[in-house]
Amino acid sequence: MQVNDKTEFVPKIVAFCCNWCSYAGADLSGTNRLQYPANVKIIRVPCSCRVNPMFILRAFQRGADGVIICGCHPGDCHYTTGNFYARRRMTLLFSMLDYLGIERKRTRVEWVSAAEGAKFAATMNDFAAQINELGPNRRLEDLRCRQN
Ligand code: FES
Repeated sequence: MQVNDKTEFVPKIVAFCCNWCSYAGADLSGTNRLQYPANVKIIRVPCSCRVNPMFILRAFQRGADGVIICGCHPGDCHYTTGNFYARRRMTLLFSMLDYLGIERKRTRVEWVSAAEGAKFAATMNDFAAQINELGPNRRLEDLRCRQN
């Protein structure tokens, strides 16, 4: 998507990845030389349930165009039930964000295991294309945080 004539829109994407599965999946995709967009910024967290909803609000406030949370598959969480809490929490948060005008497609929860490097790359490529289609996000953005 073109923002204006001169600059092409490059979305800012924040990916919260749990240490035990998704981050290892990202590592594996790198080891296997699978490509995913460089504008996906990974933040490693101990578990998907460590992602406080405030982190996501803050990411949008700081100019993120899309936020994805990746964790272990249900039943595989290193802390047993962390991803179940994350899923519940994010379902509620995403519906609230939708109410605030942040499209549902700007947020996503995905389960990626340590052996799924290809899935990680495919998920990031798909999510980046989706955000690219949506264009820049201006909702919740704090203009004081904008970098030119
Ligand atoms: Fe991966 Fe909990 S440790 S989701």
